[in-house]
Amino acid sequence: MKANAVRLSREQAKEVLVRLDSTINSARGRAARESMVKLLNSAVPTYTWVGIYAVEGADLVLDAWSGPAATEHTRIPIGKGVCGFAAKAGRTEIVSDVSKDPRYLQCFLSTKSEIVVPISAQGKVVGEIDIDSDQLDGFSSVDREFLEAVARKAGTLW
Ligand code: SME
Repeated sequence: MKANAVRLSREQAKEVLVRLDSTINSARGRAARESMVKLLNSAVPTYTWVGIYAVEGADLVLDAWSGPAATEHTRIPIGKGVCGFAAKAGRTEIVSDVSKDPRYLQCFLSTKSEIVVPISAQGKVVGEIDIDSDQLDGFSSVDREFLEAVARKAGTLW
């Protein structure tokens, strides 16, 4: 069950990074991002919903996602929500209990924790990876390092 899943281990993270390379193959841009969200969502039990937002002017626009349901937050102003905060600050945000974070914009009733990792290209934030977990405190420094590596890859393929 996804809700009771244990967190990502270093070994699993390494394995998923290797799989990510072969899954993306030679795809770039949106096609690469579609492959990324699908693989992350299916390979890591704690990653209940995985999305990539792209910066479009002053907003973040949902570009690719994989999970049990669509979100109504398909456009988020930079500066709003955990997503907008991470984009503005240009750094990873981990919210271990979304019910305690006033910035949090709710997408799914089942979400307990969230991580948002900015994607940069040519020194600018061009997008971000947003992951919701049904598990409380679902993200550790292993997830952070792993997803920052995924974000670097996404940046080079942007
Ligand atoms: N929770 C996010 C909004 C996006 S949904 O999680 C898909 C936020 O607080 O910015």
